[in-house]
Amino acid sequence: MFSSPNSPIVCNLPRVSIVGAGRVGSTLAQRVAEKNLADVVLLDIIAGMPQGLALDLMEARGIEIHNRQIIGTNNYADTSGSQIVVITAGLPRKPGMSRDDLLKTNAKIVVEAAKNAIAHSPNAIFIVVTNPLDVMTYLAWQATGLPRDRIMGMAGVLDSARFETFIALELGVLPADVKAMVLGSHGDLMVPLSRYATVNGIPITELLDAATIERLVERTRNGGAEIVELMQTGGAFFAPASATSVMVESILLNQSRLLPVAAYLQGEYGLEDVVIGVPCRLGCGGIESILELNLSDREREGLHTSAQSVRKSIERSQEILAE
Ligand code: LAC
Repeated sequence: MFSSPNSPIVCNLPRVSIVGAGRVGSTLAQRVAEKNLADVVLLDIIAGMPQGLALDLMEARGIEIHNRQIIGTNNYADTSGSQIVVITAGLPRKPGMSRDDLLKTNAKIVVEAAKNAIAHSPNAIFIVVTNPLDVMTYLAWQATGLPRDRIMGMAGVLDSARFETFIALELGVLPADVKAMVLGSHGDLMVPLSRYATVNGIPITELLDAATIERLVERTRNGGAEIVELMQTGGAFFAPASATSVMVESILLNQSRLLPVAAYLQGEYGLEDVVIGVPCRLGCGGIESILELNLSDREREGLHTSAQSVRKSIERSQEILAE
């Protein structure tokens, strides 16, 4: 028999709350817990669903050898005191659905989720994953009133991972040896920076001809859609969850990794009052700095075109929310 201690034990273990227990949210819960990064609160509006997923993940703990708590809930009060809140809530784009339809549905969901979550975790750092990514991050920034270093969107890490995958497949090398960065908005206007992509420091321009690189860039731009076309019943979730977990890890462990992150810009790259993917140093304070690279004219133009399209969607989202 264990005897009871005299005073109550208070442990402040790091807690990550994930709003939206769909495939991205639940896979992220698994990654965060099994990487031993934090306890996880998985929240969804569907009764029983996050509780069931949490129990399933808890039952795997002995086999996966970790001791992280995973709590499933429908109540935002259970997310209290989170270091990080990840918003994945929203609908994925279905066949026949326009971007505007998606914007309409998800804008309201994300604003409500952000407001509810910040009320219980005023000191948290927020990561938005819901599409259309850049606009949803902007709306969550607006809804929470957070300083821009504490709210960001996940897209660039995923898009970069896809570009790296295609380069690795083409060259027959280890994917982890390929490093690339994709900036801009999450969608067909993203800006893969081919001339900065390397295989262990060797520029890919030394290893692949221009036409091949262009083909890999096109496949990267189309990366999300390629998977939707194959699956028919939804989109990617393994790589999106991995990409988000890397951001969570860099923040919780204060790793200061330089990652492409959707950030609110205030003059960087000549852009203002818009959210778009740029290289950021991620540490325990969130976005610790934004790196302004010297871009070629073509890259800069690509980034501005990308920003213009995000800005248009932001304007549309403001109309939708005012309706
Ligand atoms: C993708 C979607 C989820 O890129 O944004 O796979």
